[in-house]
Amino acid sequence: MKNLILAIESSCDDSSIAVMDIDTKELLFCQKISQESQHKQYGGVVPELASRLHLEALPNILKNASRYFPQIRAVAVTNAPGLSVTLNEGIMMAKALSISLNVPLIGVNHLIGHIYSLFINRDFINDIMVLLVSGGHTKILYLQDDYRHIKELASTIDDSFGESFDKVAKMLNLGYPGGPIIESLAQQARPTIPFPIPLKQSKEIKFSYSGLKNAVRLAINQGIYSKEEIAASFQQAAITHLTMKLNKLFKTTQPPKHFAVVGGASANRALREEIDKLASKYKFDVLYPQMKYCSDNAAMIARIGVDMYHNQDFTHYKDLQAISKVSFDTEILS
Ligand code: KG4
Ligand code: ZN
Repeated sequence: MKNLILAIESSCDDSSIAVMDIDTKELLFCQKISQESQHKQYGGVVPELASRLHLEALPNILKNASRYFPQIRAVAVTNAPGLSVTLNEGIMMAKALSISLNVPLIGVNHLIGHIYSLFINRDFINDIMVLLVSGGHTKILYLQDDYRHIKELASTIDDSFGESFDKVAKMLNLGYPGGPIIESLAQQARPTIPFPIPLKQSKEIKFSYSGLKNAVRLAINQGIYSKEEIAASFQQAAITHLTMKLNKLFKTTQPPKHFAVVGGASANRALREEIDKLASKYKFDVLYPQMKYCSDNAAMIARIGVDMYHNQDFTHYKDLQAISKVSFDTEILS
């Protein structure tokens, strides 16, 4: 008889359930149903549609995990941040399972879940600086000891990195999600358009993507560039913005021992190449999630769920709620 945790993720447009061994941290089951094709025609996620699709997909996945039920010792579920209506689909299922299996319930912060995507099928590392690049967030976080000690060092003041790829893809009528589409188009042209690098003159470590997005819109309206040229030039400017700010950060503060990039956009190979260059320049160790765990998935929720289980970090079902926005303790960088 094993001791297992079952995890549920439904914070946006991916319905996913995973089962992990609490003692060995081995991932035994992970299934995900993405809703990308259904949201494609709208150029972004439509919350009510996403919620209805979770309602269909989650029970179908759960059926496939039912053989593990007798060994489940806890249920973990993403309860923040995300779309309230979609978070609630996962939360309701988690509450029902926790009550019927008579096991504790664990509420997981999705952003910290992304950090723990690094530790799926591998040991936990602390003292790690993390660049989180997803559809909803662009942040530099610092994980000191464990998930309870996370500081936010920098964030975006407007759009996020992944969101800017989605918006540029929408402007070019390329569908959703924009990240992988823009990345593959960018490989087919040279970045010849000199888009402005956001906040280039500012010493502050913070991010901004709305100005770049507007510059891309103007270039599209000129009607003289190919989609490939736009994609290549935009991607290069978007990545240069991140690496310029990281360069500024590492020049003024001690570079970390470990640095990681997580979140859906950490799958971007051009971004990984630039981060690898920084790693050899500043001599830090760099970590990325496996490609299949970059975008939203329940395996990362199970992985942090295991550590929360060991700390008995449980929430009573009456208290577990969907929270659409979260904040971390911040440390201002100059
Ligand atoms: O982490 P994630 O799956 O969901 C959120 O928590 O937001 O991230 C999804 C985001 C989308 O904006 C998508 O366009 C972006 O990640 N993304 C990428 C790539 N793959 C996904 N952005 C740039 N390059 C990629 N290859
Ligand atoms: Zn995510």
